[in-house]
Amino acid sequence: DAAYDMIVVSNRLPVDYLRGPDGETTWKSSPGGLVTALEPVMRAADGAWVGWAGVADREFDPFEYDGINIIPVPLSESELEEYYEGFSNDTLWPLYHDVIAPPSFHREWWDAYVRVNRRFAEAAARAASPGAVVWVQDYQLQLVPRMLREKRPDLVIGFFNHIPFPAYGIYSQLPWRRQVLDGLLGADVIGFQRAADAGNFTRAVRRLFGYATRGSVLDVPGPDGEVRHVVARQFPISIDSAGFEELARRPDVQARAHEIRESLGNPQTIMLGVDRLDYTKGIRHRLKAFGELLRDGRLSVEDVTLVQVASPSRERVETYRQLRDEIELMVGRLNGDYSTLGHQAIAYLHHGYPREEMVALYLAADVMLVTALRDGMNLVAKEFVACSFDDDGVLVLSEFTGASDELRQAILVNPHDIEGLKDAMVEAAQMPRKERARRMRALRKRVRENDVAKWSSTFLKTLTGAGIIASGVP
Ligand code: G6P
Repeated sequence: DAAYDMIVVSNRLPVDYLRGPDGETTWKSSPGGLVTALEPVMRAADGAWVGWAGVADREFDPFEYDGINIIPVPLSESELEEYYEGFSNDTLWPLYHDVIAPPSFHREWWDAYVRVNRRFAEAAARAASPGAVVWVQDYQLQLVPRMLREKRPDLVIGFFNHIPFPAYGIYSQLPWRRQVLDGLLGADVIGFQRAADAGNFTRAVRRLFGYATRGSVLDVPGPDGEVRHVVARQFPISIDSAGFEELARRPDVQARAHEIRESLGNPQTIMLGVDRLDYTKGIRHRLKAFGELLRDGRLSVEDVTLVQVASPSRERVETYRQLRDEIELMVGRLNGDYSTLGHQAIAYLHHGYPREEMVALYLAADVMLVTALRDGMNLVAKEFVACSFDDDGVLVLSEFTGASDELRQAILVNPHDIEGLKDAMVEAAQMPRKERARRMRALRKRVRENDVAKWSSTFLKTLTGAGIIASGVP
């Protein structure tokens, strides 16, 4: 086995194994935010990435892709169902998003979660050089830090939770609440999106274990009775702001934005929603508000079109299937009731798109609608801002997103308050140019100065600092 000084562990690899319609297979980089965030760090450190290739029942040898060492971890079909679709996305996901959908608790799913977490921990333990830095990502792998520390006490272990961490009253429903906290406490640094998430976590540790905490430092007793200092605090994630702006400034992307506007009949106002098709995103609330505005004549299809991109996600999980049916019923009804020949109320797209097309959509849009009921961060909000280099465009942003902690000059909304949401949408459509520019300038400054490179370097600096303290080396 090769030994790496820096290892990232995440459920999904930065590359997907894809099978085309002709049966041909290829590795394709998955364009997620995390990948762009960590790619430069990984290249510089000659690091390795441990994760799942996105298909069941396939084993792959480690390989190199575009300068990154890839270490695939296999999942069987039943593990895909019980660990990924089950425990990760039908237990933890709804629980951590404030039980917007009811979480299911199944003991077999938990068993699979433990088994698969152990496999990821073993793969990381095998690949790590002495004293290496291992950075574990997200809710699918919360047991890995503890498992890894038990095998390899020499490692410096970080964990980052990309989704919210719920209040104790909700978290405590989890039958395995102690095991999950203990799993996380195997890390030296535990990162969250918001200060509120870190607070919820720290309170849960106090309630369930009674450990002493001082601000973001938790005293965690080890097996030898010695106390380890674990840091739990916020590290709000971001995007490659310069990369997005560069794309937005490209003439071909601008031409595409123009083409999109034309194809919609050049309406005065294009409103845009871009989400994974997920019940946390508040898509129904957004559609309801838009429908009522058309019904009451406060907006008209002659002037306004809503473009809703809903990218397919977790399609074998029942809650997601139901949501898709509900949304498509709503879109169909609203278009039936309010569209006219030549003026479509809602352009609904159930697809994922390459980054260029997304940026063209951001450029084409006048108003971006982010109405999530709960969201760890919401990078779409930051992407829209980064692309608005002409200081134009209005962001309507839910208070229930991590992004709302930073993007204070957006029109902030409570998406449960349909009347308030409607007022915000009208305000956004009618906002004077000067006011739009004033707000967008401030938003862009924020997103430019806090990009994803800063996120990863701040986390890693905290982590390696903590590692030095933990091992007693000054
Ligand atoms: C969220 C999670 C990620 C996850 C992504 C896509 O952003 O925080 O961990 O990878 O959704 O979901 P999927 O289940 O397709 O990986």
